[in-house]
Amino acid sequence: MARILGIESSCDETGIAIYDSELGLLADTLYSQIELHRQYGGVVPELASRDHLRKIIPLIDECLNKAQCTLKDIDAIAYTEGPGLNGALLVGASVANAIGFANNLPIIPVHHLEGHLLSPLLAENKPQAPFVALLASGGHSQLIAVHEIGNYELLGDTLDDAAGEAFDKTAKMLGLPYPGGKFIAKLAVNGQESYPLPRPMLHSGDLAMSFSGLKTAVLTLISKLEQQNIKIEGQVLADIAKSIEEAITDVLIKKSLSALKESKIKSLVVSGGVSANLTLRQKLDKLAIKHGFKVFYPPLALCTDNGAMIALAGAYRLANKKLNYSFSVRPRWDLTKINNE
Ligand code: KG4
Ligand code: ZN
Repeated sequence: MARILGIESSCDETGIAIYDSELGLLADTLYSQIELHRQYGGVVPELASRDHLRKIIPLIDECLNKAQCTLKDIDAIAYTEGPGLNGALLVGASVANAIGFANNLPIIPVHHLEGHLLSPLLAENKPQAPFVALLASGGHSQLIAVHEIGNYELLGDTLDDAAGEAFDKTAKMLGLPYPGGKFIAKLAVNGQESYPLPRPMLHSGDLAMSFSGLKTAVLTLISKLEQQNIKIEGQVLADIAKSIEEAITDVLIKKSLSALKESKIKSLVVSGGVSANLTLRQKLDKLAIKHGFKVFYPPLALCTDNGAMIALAGAYRLANKKLNYSFSVRPRWDLTKINNE
């Protein structure tokens, strides 16, 4: 049995959690900086680092309180080593190492994407390797064959924008707040797909994806409607949102089905911020029944960045724990490179 304190600080969420390898998730605390960055339309790295610094210790204290334990009950500290923003990562890394040094606790550096990829293991319906993982977040759109935990093969990637980025950039064009994915999803509930948008590379015959063309298509649509003196509000706005959601989810789904077919794997895991999208989940659930595969998601609250997924990944990486408190972070880090590390 091991009890892990997890620390996530790679981008604009400070996430802390305590995960017990036998009892599961004991507590988690999260502070989102979204409001801070919203006025700039995206994450400002320096502001992110400073805010992590302000919030991280109070969140750790709160999490320990919630789990009714102290640092004496903790066996190891896991933190996000990368990929992410350099300064933001350094806050988590230095706090993890300082607490580790002061309390003689081992430290486990964790890959942020491995955290996302394993987060469905925090749900009631848990996947078992091998599975294909669709990792769709603000920074990544990847299809990965998980042969076993720790052995990852990249099957397909986006050539340009990530799926979440496509949601965010098109949302910005429509005047919606940052990050736009959930606002598009909310509007789409009352929309019809009245403005069919391109599905780039849908029939490319490989597992590569591309979402940047969608921005141009949405921009063209907006100026066409404006020329016709049609206001982008109410039903029109909802219909555009629905059209965007359908285009992005169609590409993600088509490529995921091809990955399952090519790899002959029968389970699909969807994770990362975009896995919170209910249309994506509903469409996949239907297809899973039709094509006879299983599909798994993280709990809704754990789709976007959080400490629980880092604590969980730390529990799986216990063998990598170290007691020397010198550390570095890896702002760029390929997930497939952690195999056998
Ligand atoms: O995994 P995440 O928290 O951060 C990264 O590691 O990038 O993902 C954030 C992304 C954003 O692009 C956000 O717009 C998107 O996830 N997102 C959604 C939804 N909720 C969050 N996209 C579509 N539908 C949603 N409901
Ligand atoms: Zn993330």
